[in-house]
Amino acid sequence: MKVLLSEEKIQARVREMGREIARDYAGREPHLVAVLKGACTFLTDLCRAMPELPLTMDFIAVSSYGAATRSSGEVKLVKDLDQGLDGRDLLVVEDIVDTGLTLNYLLNVLRARGPRTLKVAALLSKPSRRLVETPLDYVGFNIEDHFVVGYGLDFNEKYRNLKEIVVYGSD
Ligand code: IMP
Ligand code: MG
Repeated sequence: MKVLLSEEKIQARVREMGREIARDYAGREPHLVAVLKGACTFLTDLCRAMPELPLTMDFIAVSSYGAATRSSGEVKLVKDLDQGLDGRDLLVVEDIVDTGLTLNYLLNVLRARGPRTLKVAALLSKPSRRLVETPLDYVGFNIEDHFVVGYGLDFNEKYRNLKEIVVYGSD
């Protein structure tokens, strides 16, 4: 499969994002919320790229209701957060934003819980696929409309353990 982003390229960019986030949140205690399972790999590298921040983390899992309701972007919370968000500096960590429907829904759910600030860090974004306006504060890479796997991203739950990001199905 064709390598779209090498391990070196990903690692360099994630470290850069970590430094940028650490600068922006200096003096604060951001609460990182990763969307399972895809964003876990990104989260573990990202949080170690900002060791100076007294951050906390939590996890949430969503699943879409299936093709019929896809256009509504309605998602089901499969695993909720352990901690509340009231007054916190929330940073949502996502692996990839495609149509934006999932993230949009999630942001509405999280915003209702009263965080003081809410920002989003996404490793990948496919701007050409967007169906809803989704402001992203930190983006690792903007990519073309390819289905990609690796570095946390899966196809049928596989390939999450690849160190690089590859175009699924390519030679
Ligand atoms: P959205 O609601 O269309 O933005 O879909 C976002 C979700 O679809 C992501 O969180 C991924 O789980 C999945 N997804 C979208 N594009 C890809 C891809 O290229 N590879 C793997 N998963 C993807
Ligand atoms: Mg995801």
